Amino acid sequence: MRSVAYSDNCPRSLIGMSFPQSRPRRLRHSPALRELVAEVRLGVSDLVAPLFVREGITSPQPISSLAGVDQHTIQSLKSEVRELSDLGVKAVILFGVPAKKDAVGSGAFDPNGIVQIALRELNEELGDRMVLMADLCVDEYTSHGHCGVLNSSGDVDNDATVEIYCQAALAQAHAGAHVVAPSGMMDGQVGAIRAALDGAGYQDVAIMAYSAKYASGLYGPFRDAVDVQIAGGGNRKGYQQDWRNAREALREVDADIDQGADIVMVKPAMSYLDIISAVRARVDVPVAAYHVSGEYAMIKAAAANGWIDHDTVAVEQLTAVKRAGADIILTYFARWFAETQH
Ligand code: PBG
Repeated sequence: MRSVAYSDNCPRSLIGMSFPQSRPRRLRHSPALRELVAEVRLGVSDLVAPLFVREGITSPQPISSLAGVDQHTIQSLKSEVRELSDLGVKAVILFGVPAKKDAVGSGAFDPNGIVQIALRELNEELGDRMVLMADLCVDEYTSHGHCGVLNSSGDVDNDATVEIYCQAALAQAHAGAHVVAPSGMMDGQVGAIRAALDGAGYQDVAIMAYSAKYASGLYGPFRDAVDVQIAGGGNRKGYQQDWRNAREALREVDADIDQGADIVMVKPAMSYLDIISAVRARVDVPVAAYHVSGEYAMIKAAAANGWIDHDTVAVEQLTAVKRAGADIILTYFARWFAETQH
């Protein structure tokens, strides 16, 4: 049999001519084809649900600027976490709202602080079925609303604050946290917390460091959720990052990894996709990104006005965060996504 020559399939008339342009639309023809060639897939197991637990309330309280998110009682928190687990969500991060605040934020390290009580009960009930993360900071617990203790001139005292974070880390680990997540942007916090945990036998408690956390205008609804007003109309620009700086974020990430961070985080997410992407290219630990309260609230508000489509924009944004390089996304959409989008 005669072998088929190349020239039989490729008519002489085409040889030497320019070929037709590539047509990317061929691969967009059907949902099945689009699914086949998708580069990124967002899944429930990528997500961490941030949850608020408040001391001294008897029923869950809605947070008006965070539609669909409540301040929980211990009881309602437990049912929420149970339901999230049944929906396939693998991790939650807890924030506490204490009944009383003071200058040093005692509730953050009190063995009977609200988050410690919650961790104990959740760990007892769910064990390893749910990754229990605890935000490690004092701003929810301080009367002045700063993420640390103040010195005599009213500035946040770095080293005194780090000592308190170590106590909080131990209280959280002791109560059953699997991951502690220092979010206060104090220098040296990760190394000190790692040493404190190891010294007390908590070698297996991981640290997810809020490494590149910007002094963003997008935390407003969160501050409603935890009843925080920064004293004197202040801000966190003295310790959180300046949004004009990208290289600085990489220095922060390097320092945290050197000090023992197991996961590094970029926060917020949508305005910092360049940072997420640069961090992903630089490190080999998991990268998390926090799609923060203001990002969530903007979608809710615009959708409530009929200006954008809620479901489309929510999935578009979370997918963009993953595409930029985040392995883990903290998002108030976690439950909704688990219920409706997979
Ligand atoms: C600090 C902390 C904040 C958020 C998470 N951890 C607030 C802040 O830095 O002012 C914000 C999260 C959000 O806006 O969703 N404990």
